[in-house]
Amino acid sequence: MNDLDIGFVRSQFPAFTVPELNQKSFFENAGGSFAAGSVISRLNRFYISRKVQPYAGYEASSLGGKEMDEARNELSALLNVAPNTLHFGPSTSQNTYVMSQAFKECNTKRKVIIVTNQDHEANSGSWRKLEKTGFNIREWRVNESTGSLDINNLRELLDEEVLLVAFPHCSNIVGEINPVKTICKMIKSVGAYACVDGVSYAPHGFSDITDLGPDIYMFSAYKTYGTHLGLMYISDELNKLLENQGHYFNKESSVKRFTPAGPDHAQIASSAGIADYIKSVHAYHFDDDADPKLIANRVHQMQRRHETKLLDPLLKYLSKRDDLRVLGSTSTKARVPTVAIDVKERGKQIAIKLADDGIMADCGDFYAVRLLEALGVNLNDGVLRLSFVHYTSEQDVERLINSLDKNL
Ligand SMILES: Cc1ncc(COP(=O)(O)O)c(C=O)c1O
Repeated sequence: MNDLDIGFVRSQFPAFTVPELNQKSFFENAGGSFAAGSVISRLNRFYISRKVQPYAGYEASSLGGKEMDEARNELSALLNVAPNTLHFGPSTSQNTYVMSQAFKECNTKRKVIIVTNQDHEANSGSWRKLEKTGFNIREWRVNESTGSLDINNLRELLDEEVLLVAFPHCSNIVGEINPVKTICKMIKSVGAYACVDGVSYAPHGFSDITDLGPDIYMFSAYKTYGTHLGLMYISDELNKLLENQGHYFNKESSVKRFTPAGPDHAQIASSAGIADYIKSVHAYHFDDDADPKLIANRVHQMQRRHETKLLDPLLKYLSKRDDLRVLGSTSTKARVPTVAIDVKERGKQIAIKLADDGIMADCGDFYAVRLLEALGVNLNDGVLRLSFVHYTSEQDVERLINSLDKNL
């Protein structure tokens, strides 16, 4: 397996060329990543020469429509799902909200929804609200010292009354990568549906969604090198089972049924640039003509290896200190480089001091309030979160550790 060429990777992101950012080290990627140049050029082109209602017969319109289709086709191929199962909504929070409305109207005897307290609120609150409409909510709770979800606890909650289980691929606080495939199999074994929040995972590599086996898989393009959109896979079976949430006359259009807001044409078209970026990383590192599934897998593996190599010294450094608590595991195994530390009331001040050293990071609850509560974090203090992705360099991490050493 080739090593990721970090120089090539960074050359694909215009953010690394502008004076406001190129002297800085960015550690708030879990909040939103830099956009790939290919996304920005497509967005720019759409706004300049395709900014008309798409899919009409005249040239600017048909080209715009083609680019929107290209985004759906290219991204779905990399995710190994059929194009008409991929939906473009305004954000993941809005996508879960719409899906919860669809489940509310679902004509079923199953009246239990399982949620976790490891999730970002986006994949939790909308489901929990269904309690008011006759559903029973069961909570799959984390271990209160590690923040981990134990699949044996899920086993005890699952039975034939369960309609849906909503859980994260990865937490935006403890960074734990949950065994999605195993969990989806367990959920399916009782005939329930699985809704996976992949927002904190997708920036670290595209998964083969068919292989993982969820019925819904969501992620946010603005954290995955694109613009502010929520991407959502919905299985064909579930799409047919749930009530249309769009205009009544669009009810037969599989990709219009769960995006009632109407699509942002330019942003959808620009998302093809995320696929361009992944393919360009592949083409730079491999000579052969791989299919999209293999391309996504190889790039995913390179991202993971690079991130793990950089994460190791950071976790080692933090775990030696006795004046802070790392939330979650201090091993790189089954972990993405999203590291939250509890430094009590000092978090916000430390973030300011890091900024003086050119480190961009933040402190807060990151909308994972239930998880922080379970882990005994004071919500007024929040946690200092240090999150990076594959375009982060070894020098960035060294600089972070030096600055932490000075300021913690
Ligand atoms: C893990 C996770 N899930 C969901 C969301 C919500 O995504 P969006 O902002 O697209 O609604 C976030 C945003 O921070 C997140 O980190």
